Amino acid sequence: MDVILFGPPGAGKGTQAKLLVETLAIPQISTGDMMRAERASGSALGKKFDEYMNQGLLVPDDLVLELFAQRLRRPDAAEGAIFDGFPRTVPQAEALDAKLGELGRRVDRVIVLEVPLDLIIERVTGRRVCLSCGQTYHVRYSPPPPSGECSSCGANDVVQRADDTEEKVRTRDAGYHRETLPILAHYEPTGVVAKIDGVGTIEEITARVLGALQRS
Ligand code: AP5
Repeated sequence: MDVILFGPPGAGKGTQAKLLVETLAIPQISTGDMMRAERASGSALGKKFDEYMNQGLLVPDDLVLELFAQRLRRPDAAEGAIFDGFPRTVPQAEALDAKLGELGRRVDRVIVLEVPLDLIIERVTGRRVCLSCGQTYHVRYSPPPPSGECSSCGANDVVQRADDTEEKVRTRDAGYHRETLPILAHYEPTGVVAKIDGVGTIEEITARVLGALQRS
């Protein structure tokens, strides 16, 4: 099964994707996580990502598509994947369709997490992440241990992402409306789009996502 988790920055795509990995037995493919790993490696490609991500702007399609194509070829994605933060533009959606088509697959479901901007700002500015393992926390809803050590891997690497300020979130949200939302018009004619309310507890939203997947 190939599923796109869709929604504005901070809608909960990464949180839900990590929970679905086990249930669906397919990997999460997060272009944002892949780009952050590339930046952390100090590579030339990572430095190019820096220029865009630091400003809350989308990375150009050509840079994203090569990264994505390499990831889709890995054996763990042979039966499907949960796409988190990809596609972000209509050309990226067309490229995804083409790559899946070569494998005899198609996008089975686009799950849209709908969350109002004031809650997005609260979620994103309160987010903390472990740089070592990617575990996500929220200072109010799921706080990291007071010791500063990650509860998942034990590293002392829990930080706030540089693009998680209110100003950058507003820039990213504007980019979402301008460049990413038009993707829905691309998928709606195929009947795969399911919009769900992204406001509620993490568990409530997981139940809604699973309900939407069962209806496919
Ligand atoms: P990316 O990493 O993809 O970020 P994003 O889409 O902006 O999404 P976020 O990671 O901010 O949010 P999320 O929806 O995953 O929410 P989360 O689950 O963490 O992209 C970052 C940048 O990389 C982009 O700006 C761009 O520059 C570049 N990029 C990436 N992919 C690209 C592409 N394909 N093309 C071009 N450029 C690309 O939740 C947020 C917080 O809320 C967490 O703290 C979480 O604990 C909390 N939370 C979640 N759900 C709930 C809940 N139900 N109740 C309470 N708290 C909750």
